[in-house]
Amino acid sequence: MARITAGVTTSHVPAIGAAIDLGKTQQEYWAPLFKGYEYSKRWIGEQKPDVILLVYNDHASAFSMELMPTFAIGTGEKFQPADEGWGPRPVPEVVGHPELAAHIAQSVIQQDFDLTLVNRMDVDHGLTVPLSLMFGQPGAWPCKVIPIAVNVVLYPPPSGRRCYELGKALRRAVDSFDGDLNVQVWGTGGMSHQLQGPRAGLINREFDNDFLERLVNDPEGLSQMPHVEYMREAGSEGIELVMWLVMRGALDDKVTEKHRFYHVPASNTAVGHLILENS
Ligand code: DHB
Ligand code: FE
Repeated sequence: MARITAGVTTSHVPAIGAAIDLGKTQQEYWAPLFKGYEYSKRWIGEQKPDVILLVYNDHASAFSMELMPTFAIGTGEKFQPADEGWGPRPVPEVVGHPELAAHIAQSVIQQDFDLTLVNRMDVDHGLTVPLSLMFGQPGAWPCKVIPIAVNVVLYPPPSGRRCYELGKALRRAVDSFDGDLNVQVWGTGGMSHQLQGPRAGLINREFDNDFLERLVNDPEGLSQMPHVEYMREAGSEGIELVMWLVMRGALDDKVTEKHRFYHVPASNTAVGHLILENS
């Protein structure tokens, strides 16, 4: 049987990817951030997941204002790093797991979540920066990755509640897959940040730390938070945090917190990171 063993959350700031690609991780500005991921790299080296369900958002790289699925699943064999204006990041291609992805699509759609099926797409910093933070710079990513894209860039995004329920549907899908796989679910993006308008640069430490705490210990309650509260408290791009609830919904009600890290700033963003294990 396939089983979900653990969940990871992390921010996906593109400048973090550039710092890794350009060999700047030990610079004064960046070193404290990367220190927060040292434990994580050791941990994932021991865990050796077979597949990651990587919940992320596309930033108009594969999708666009012309076509924006609310929830999409990458069912293809491979996904290439997207060119976001500076050429594709020099990171390995992402290898999917079409068999598990097809099973998840079947199961989750039959549970009334209408996922868009994507056989071909490029993946942007929303997906590749979390992989770089957790795995460093290997010649090939050490496991398969199924991209699960959530729209948080074109209004209206799905509610936190809906994302939490999607996580539960993913859990049932993985549990019913006939194959011995160690599966992790990652929720990415966030934490507080606003990249535009008069409030650009907004950071809210109190909100972020409360969110980290509630994600671990009160996910039901947290899932009720309305959009307007994310926008007001965490900024317009803080809405990316709804993706963390997909991860949390896929885990047990009670989890073991292995690691927590919070760092301000990375570029314009508050970086938050959690590692949670199912018991
Ligand atoms: C930044 C953060 C993001 O989440 C993003 O998608 C782009 C930029 C930033 O802080 O620079
Ligand atoms: Fe983003």
